[in-house]
Amino acid sequence: MTATVTTDRLTVTTDRLTRVPGLLYGGDWNPEQWPEQVWAEDVKLMAEAGVNLVTVGVFSWARLQPDADSWDFGWLDRLFDLCHRHGVAVDLATATASPPAWLVRAHPELLPVTADGVRLEFGSRQHYCPSSPAYREAAVRLTRALAERYRHHPALALWHIHNEYGDHVQECFCPDSAVDFRRWLRERHGGIEELNRSWGTAFWSQRYTSFEQIEPPRTAPGPVNPTQLLDWRRFCSDALLALHRAEKAVLDEVSPGVPVTTNFMSMLKALDYWEWSRHEDLVSDDAYPDPADPRAHVNAAMNYDLMRSLKGGRPWLLMEQAPSAVSWRPVNVPKRPGLYRLWSLQALARGADGVLHFQWRASVAGAEKFHSAMLPHRGTAARGWQETVRLGAELRRLGEIAGSRLRGRAAVLLDWDSWWALELDDHPSARMRWPELLRPWYAALHERGVTVDFVPPTAGLDGYPLVLAPNLYLLDTATADRLTAYVRDGGRLVCGPFSGIADRHDHIHPGGHPGPLRELLGIVVDEHWPIPDGATTAVRLDGAAPDGPRSDGAEAHAEPHGADLRAERWSEWIETEGAETLARYASGTLAGLPAVTRNRLGAGTAWYLSCHLGADTGRVLDLPLAEAGVGAELPDLPADVEATRRHAADGRQYLFLLNHGGVERRVPLDTPGTDLLTGAATGDAVTLAPLGAAVLRLPAAEERP
Ligand code: GAL
Repeated sequence: MTATVTTDRLTVTTDRLTRVPGLLYGGDWNPEQWPEQVWAEDVKLMAEAGVNLVTVGVFSWARLQPDADSWDFGWLDRLFDLCHRHGVAVDLATATASPPAWLVRAHPELLPVTADGVRLEFGSRQHYCPSSPAYREAAVRLTRALAERYRHHPALALWHIHNEYGDHVQECFCPDSAVDFRRWLRERHGGIEELNRSWGTAFWSQRYTSFEQIEPPRTAPGPVNPTQLLDWRRFCSDALLALHRAEKAVLDEVSPGVPVTTNFMSMLKALDYWEWSRHEDLVSDDAYPDPADPRAHVNAAMNYDLMRSLKGGRPWLLMEQAPSAVSWRPVNVPKRPGLYRLWSLQALARGADGVLHFQWRASVAGAEKFHSAMLPHRGTAARGWQETVRLGAELRRLGEIAGSRLRGRAAVLLDWDSWWALELDDHPSARMRWPELLRPWYAALHERGVTVDFVPPTAGLDGYPLVLAPNLYLLDTATADRLTAYVRDGGRLVCGPFSGIADRHDHIHPGGHPGPLRELLGIVVDEHWPIPDGATTAVRLDGAAPDGPRSDGAEAHAEPHGADLRAERWSEWIETEGAETLARYASGTLAGLPAVTRNRLGAGTAWYLSCHLGADTGRVLDLPLAEAGVGAELPDLPADVEATRRHAADGRQYLFLLNHGGVERRVPLDTPGTDLLTGAATGDAVTLAPLGAAVLRLPAAEERP
């Protein structure tokens, strides 16, 4: 929702997620689990906590539609009215994530089937085949019934389609899926000969003479055709998206003007969120960082940066987080005092305009009865409730940040197609997994206080002084050409190993790796040299290592004295073709060969890391960061302090300072401001307690002293 506000001084355009003013605060509310008397207490306590948005109906299908021909909306009508009377807006779910027993028994074919042919039973949730006509018809019918009934209700602020597509069921191998897969393949490839070429079916006698011969990639005796698997990944994302779009079309038709979202699951392999987010009015995310992991906030920051990036920097909504412990890890550690607040502020720091939870009131029955809630089992005497009330009050103080935006100082390329292809079987190493390749790059940037945006391979890169591509295994020539043009025009690209390998059919680019990146990077790969588990290869940064490879395999992976960095998982035997060598392998068979290179092309520069440097990645990234002039949001940022800056349309800035460490930190400031959390004016520094935070309003440049 974009609102234009005209004041006597200027006209500003703000992005509002919904018509609810300020930041959004609340959670999933499952009132059907409780007698209605409890609802009255719920709304009273919501007011006390400052809750202004609740998500209802997520798992209400069986209650809303007791059988094929009857509906029970009375309870939801009363709930809507109750919410409205108490000033709580409703995010109404379409309730389609858990089909009821009567539907499943009438249409047993809608239950999903695994690759081994096992049909999954009713009794949990998300038990549906994404391609089932029976499921889709029933889901669309329910969506229409809800939309027609509540479209004009004044409490309705947001539509919430389904719930976490791809959480439990990402693919189904049943006959309905086979039919849908063939339809999808026909659309993609046109004819069977095109498919044969794309899938390389000359290999192992896999040639098809008709689409009818094709099945989903069920469990087979040996390795399955990789392009079939890649098309399957694409199809599965599209099949779920088609379901989502069917519901979205109904909401757009029947309830225009009310924004629509579905809750994403952070960086999820199964769904191409670039494609999905085109069909969202706003992006929302569910995030469950593990309180037992001292670095969980780094991963969370990465996911939040992605969520912000999916709609080009527009504010997004944290749709679900746990107020304290979850119930689905082997050991579910609660959030120690202060962590819930800090992690909530972190989502805002990275562009969210609201913090919602799973769930409002803790369940007493069912699989999630040990999951924390805003209102714990102990009730208002619980520590958790005090934190709920405190955070609500703080979010009200932060209301003015709604609609302000962040912009990354560098871009990270993320391509689901490449991710899927990278992780197919029978590669030189099964250890090349996208999240594990990306994480150390992101962690290095996070540690240096650099905010990044994620961008799809089709993105215009012009505004970014630096683009990072931790891996581009699958790369079509059009994207390679765009990257080359970006560098020629003065851009800086840093590319990670095992890139430029395959085209979009997962066929190897001819003429040597890295295929279409060869000229841009000024190198050629002679052979991939994966590093065995547990071993490392030394890499020396100054390029001063002796020339030439070793023939002495016996010393492979032993680290000689003086080596600077350690490569793990992966290395490559590369030769330069115009690039200069910045670092060389310093142990093992590749000792003396280039490990990190830099190539000047046109007005720009392209770096290549031929190995995975894990925790040492940042020491190489420092070079391009310095050349590109990309630095931290604040200079002299102490360890463990995260700093981001949101910009308002009127020129004000909101500087978030979050101390993720266990030690008090003093953060020097270049501009004094006002801490919105305390109302206090700051001097030339802010002191943050362990797990402490400050959100500083900094005046617009022209208002600064
Ligand atoms: C989410 C889901 C919620 C609830 C929550 C528990 O994945 O959307 O319904 O199950 O996890 O952490």
